Amino acid sequence: MLEIKEIKSGYNGVEILHGIDLKVKPAEIVAIIGPNGAGKSTLLKSIFSQCEVYSGKILFKDKELTRLPTHEMISEGISYVPQGRPIFSDLTVKENLEMGAFILPDKELIKRNLKDVLEKFPFLKKKENDYAFTLSGGQQQMLAIARALMQNPEVLLLDEPSLGLAPKTMQEVFEKIVEINKEGIALIIVEQNAKQAVKIAHTTYVLEDGKIALKGGKEILKDKRIKNIYFGGR
Ligand SMILES: Nc1ncnc2c1ncn2[C@@H]1O[C@H](COP(=O)(O)OP(=O)(O)OP(=O)(O)O)[C@@H](O)[C@H]1O
Ligand SMILES: [Mg+2]
Repeated sequence: MLEIKEIKSGYNGVEILHGIDLKVKPAEIVAIIGPNGAGKSTLLKSIFSQCEVYSGKILFKDKELTRLPTHEMISEGISYVPQGRPIFSDLTVKENLEMGAFILPDKELIKRNLKDVLEKFPFLKKKENDYAFTLSGGQQQMLAIARALMQNPEVLLLDEPSLGLAPKTMQEVFEKIVEINKEGIALIIVEQNAKQAVKIAHTTYVLEDGKIALKGGKEILKDKRIKNIYFGGR
């Protein structure tokens, strides 16, 4: 459904990704793992035109979307939650969610999506009128994801959804991601937490120095190279 072909991209003329190929099938979870600075965030930014794309193509349902501006990507059905809990802290939960839907053409649809999203995240419904800064870290991450869902995506890109969360909260975020996927939404998840990510993913790509070092299913955790990167060779 989403296909990344031979993407070379970077910043200020400096190439960071050196030819990446990646495919996402409908309702598939794809995990991207790899060390700091490998280019994981840059890969998501390349899809969403937030860095320079030097060559290669982004295809979505056979249509070329390379270098489309953000709002057009969202209209096509791709949403993106950048690294670092991007929410508006001095807006209320409800206002944050409505901001997510700015792209939608009519008020009725926004209302309906708001109702659906609040049903999926009952704790947000309870805090609908609270300022976002009063939420815990995990709740803010959920709010960022919920806001992206307001856009009715077919593919959702998540950059480090579990970063800085306590283990229990992290678990809740992963469970929510699986729930979202069960409703038929495909996901690309960039994660530091390799074990958890591989566990919920159908396919995992390991990125190293701007290249795909390894691709596979859940068996990938047993690979020697993964053990070297993440578990000190044990
Ligand atoms: N806005 C930017 N301008 C210039 N260079 C950048 C920019 N953002 C990232 N880079 C560089 O691109 C490389 C890859 O960064 P990227 O953020 O994609 O890595 P990452 O795998 O997401 O790492 P992390 O695990 O730390 O989030 C790094 O060398 C980084 O310094
Ligand atoms: Mg990153």
